[in-house]
Amino acid sequence: MRGTLRPMSDGRLSMQQVLARFDQAIGLETSPRTSAGTGAAPEAPSAADRVPVPAVVAPARAPAASAAAAPVLRTAAAPAAAPIASTHVYPPESLRAPGDAADRARRLTEIDARHAASCPHCLAATGHTRLVFGEGAAHAELMFVGEAPGDAEDRAGRPFLGAAGEKLDEMIKAMGLSREQVYIASILKSRTPDNRTPMPEEVAVCGPFLMEQILAVQPKVIVTLGGPAAKWICGTDAGISRIRGTWQQWTPPAGADCPPIPVMPTYHPSYVLRTYTKQVRMEVWSDLRAVLAKLGRTPPVPGGTNG
Ligand code: URA
Repeated sequence: MRGTLRPMSDGRLSMQQVLARFDQAIGLETSPRTSAGTGAAPEAPSAADRVPVPAVVAPARAPAASAAAAPVLRTAAAPAAAPIASTHVYPPESLRAPGDAADRARRLTEIDARHAASCPHCLAATGHTRLVFGEGAAHAELMFVGEAPGDAEDRAGRPFLGAAGEKLDEMIKAMGLSREQVYIASILKSRTPDNRTPMPEEVAVCGPFLMEQILAVQPKVIVTLGGPAAKWICGTDAGISRIRGTWQQWTPPAGADCPPIPVMPTYHPSYVLRTYTKQVRMEVWSDLRAVLAKLGRTPPVPGGTNG
């Protein structure tokens, strides 16, 4: 297959070769599973892209007390419903500008412990095995945000494992990066029953801990994976197919010493596995290339020395 990627004698690539390079770069060359995969059926789709989801009204950036900065949630399914105001109180330590990598790592450790001890959703949630706080480089310039842990993540206590995790790894590798260089987290830190979409009241109490993680890492770019993450992070009701590939923005809680952060919404890796069309693969790769450009990075050349 790789032999077909050689340019034509005049150095130009045919359209088929260009598409093949996209596939190769994003690890989608021949099948929805990696070559190391089992060939089993793809992981069940994220609830994210199946059903109406909670959306968040982004908090206004105002120099108010930290508790007042909490996002207000409403459901896309019932837009007339009363908003759910989060009562999360951001500790001053979480609002200050982060220091070096060690300082960021210390902050993440503190948030992790405080979340485990006090998150009203995760303390009440039943049926989950482990909390999945998130992982990666504390000083990452790129952060991926998903929706909630699934089965594999619940068992291991780590984000994005299983088939969707393999696909995310391939996407990261296609960008010339490794999992260790980025930071990965989800809105909810405990698995929902039957993998259902997070409820607004769950997001209202668990979601702010993700905000604190973002404030600690302060990445240059956030990539949201799937509809619910895009809606929550970008504060929009727009569907993922409408906003993917378009630059959005994460607005920090009021009082935070953090600029707004550019957000690139793209499809959830589960959706890519489930909807294995050339168009979806190209759209994801195009989104990731836009992120690389924003970071001032050059995409690796598939099969080349940097790819
Ligand atoms: N999907 C998510 O959104 N998060 C995970 O950690 C795993 C799958």
